Parts: sequence; C-alpha cells; structure tokens
Amino acid sequence: MTGAPEDRKIHVACIMDGNGRWARRRGLPRTEGHTAGEEALATVVRAAAARDVGWLTVFGFSTENWVRPRSEVRHILSLHRKLFARTAEMDANNARSSWIGRPFDEPGARTPVEVQRAIGKAMADTAGNDGLVVTVAFDYGSRAELVRAASRTIAASGGDCALIGAASIGANLYDPDLPPVDLLVRTSGETRISNFLLWQIKGAKVHFTERTWPDFDAAELDRALALLARGPSA
Ligand code: FPP
Repeated sequence: MTGAPEDRKIHVACIMDGNGRWARRRGLPRTEGHTAGEEALATVVRAAAARDVGWLTVFGFSTENWVRPRSEVRHILSLHRKLFARTAEMDANNARSSWIGRPFDEPGARTPVEVQRAIGKAMADTAGNDGLVVTVAFDYGSRAELVRAASRTIAASGGDCALIGAASIGANLYDPDLPPVDLLVRTSGETRISNFLLWQIKGAKVHFTERTWPDFDAAELDRALALLARGPSA
C-alpha cells in the first residue's frame, strides 16, 4: 500500500462519531448505538489488517466524555472491556492491542480499575502479534497529552532551551512509538477534530463522511484510503 510519507505502513486514525444518531434514527436507546459501534470497530480492525494498514488508532473515550449520563458511561466502559477481550480475533488478524490516555497513576486520571486490567491484559495477550497495532485512546485528550509532554521535556532539559524541540516533545507523548497519522477519519458529518491527536495529525489527509460510525465498513475504509493514493501527506 502506498501513501505513507516514509518507508513504513499507513497509520489510520478514527473519530468514531454518530453512535447516538444511528440509534435515534432506529428508535433505539443510545446504548444500542454504542454496542453497534463496538461491532463496527471489530469489522474495521479485520478490514484494516487485511489491507496491511500498520496502525489503527481510535477515539474510544475522551477526557470530556465523563460528563455523559452515568448509565451511558457505564455502558461504554463495558464495551471497552468487551473490545479488549477480543483476543482470539486479534490473534487471527495478527493484531496487537495498545492504549493511549492519561496514565492511571497521574492526578486527574479516571480510568476505572476494571478497564485498566482489561487494557493491561489485552496488551500482554497480544504482545506477540507483529501486524496491525490497534490503539484505543481512552481517558484521552490531546491538550493534556501535549501539556504533559512539554512539562516533562522542560523538566528534563534542565533549563537548556536547545534541548526543547519537536523530537524531545515527541519522545514524551503517551506513546512515542506511534507514527504520524496519514489518514484521519471522522464519521457522521461532523467536521471537527475534537482534541484528538493534535500533534500526530500534522500532515494527515482527512476523510469526513456522512455515515454514522456503526455504518462504517470496509468499503468506506477503502474510500478513505483512496485519499492517500492522490499524493503523499505534507
Ligand atoms: C460517539 O458517539 C462515540 C463515542 C462517545 C465513543 C464511544 C465509541 C464506541 C462505544 C464505539 C466502540 C469503541 C470502543 C473503543 C469500545 P456519540 O454518542 O457522540 O454519537 P452522537 O454524536 O450521534 O450522539
């Protein structure tokens, strides 16, 4: 597959929006939309692995999402546990689970212990797979990530400004091994970035689609990937 600026596989990032609208249009509770969204994500993981995508990073739960009704938050958390437990499928796709978000032991972090355990187990269980890396952003916000990276970089510099730059800040992101995003997808007709991977999307192409996330499938992924065939990212 072509389109990545360097000699590496492609990194696709998704803002999975529109679960609630998908449910409302069908006269279903919002939670059903999230359930369908988790299933769509499993489909997209399979499709991405089959297309030899290198990294798939999805916005599972933001630092802002905690204000949603408690029952909805509980349901979304249970879907994360379900997703992280899909070990057999990840193995079948030679895919590895990963996570970015506020480190569990830092002030302000809110990831419940059951989700922490599910993340740790998924990462350990799939560590031997060397194909697609599926990173879920949970309790994630890009500004918090950047403020933390800048603070750590400044602290480590000992006051020497020459040591503060893109390389040192990049090395202090939640996952320094995450390559730049080549293709950012946002579903459901919204054309905002919403505090997602602001550092990593510097040169990304962006695919906005009217489709809600539960309707996102392999064909829509192909339409998005076609953007990369029309020239490299800057
Ligand atoms: C947006 O729908 C989606 C989210 C709040 C993120 C949660 C995503 C899922 C549960 C999909 C499965 C993913 C994982 C990682 C388990 P919305 O509620 O904002 O939709 P609306 O804008 O139509 O109300």
